[in-house]
Amino acid sequence: MSLEERARRTRELQRAAATADACRKCPIGYERRHNVYGEGDPMAALMVIGEGPGETEDELGRPFVGRAGQLLERMLAAIGLLREEVYICNTVKCRPTLSGPNGLRNRAPELDEMANCRPFLDEQIAIIAPKVMLALGAPAAKSFLGRDFQITKMRGRWYPGPDGIPLMASFHPAYILRQTGGEIEAVKRLVWHDLKAVRTKIDELIALESAPPPGEAPEPSEPEQVGLFGL
Ligand code: URA
Repeated sequence: MSLEERARRTRELQRAAATADACRKCPIGYERRHNVYGEGDPMAALMVIGEGPGETEDELGRPFVGRAGQLLERMLAAIGLLREEVYICNTVKCRPTLSGPNGLRNRAPELDEMANCRPFLDEQIAIIAPKVMLALGAPAAKSFLGRDFQITKMRGRWYPGPDGIPLMASFHPAYILRQTGGEIEAVKRLVWHDLKAVRTKIDELIALESAPPPGEAPEPSEPEQVGLFGL
């Protein structure tokens, strides 16, 4: 696609991010330090959607830059993708917090917060028009696939997402980081299965787009797999 299209999407995203930044529909809009709109390649084939910004994200105004973000980068690298090549965002753009004795703590976003933020997410999806979407964790998966979605049973399959975009849900990197002992390898194996399916789907959709005329098609090749991501 053209440089003009890239520039158009970049402008659209900047405009939309400024609108999101001005939003104060939820109380967390007054508490957060930064609106964490999202970042990445405006032409990305893959959009990754997490739950909501945590403390580090709130401080820096960027999604997935804490420990979970570092693991996400290794997960993407395992399927040959750089962070900069994908688009990364969250179901809510402000950090959901609870106040405790030691200050503010992260919490999962509430349904009404996700609903208030949804127009921003929908607009992002419409501007970027990714080929594939990956929802990380139950809250993100439920926001697309309904309240009855069970991440342990229903992850790793394709569902029609917004605008019919193929959407898969997998475990959140923060969940992987919370596992101990043998559970770590077991969860990593499941996530690795999901990541490989994401890579294969992207490759298939890109190949379809640039398919040569019938009769001239080359033999399909195995997707390049770098290996199970490390922790
Ligand atoms: N967890 C999320 O779901 N999103 C972030 O941006 C960071 C951690």
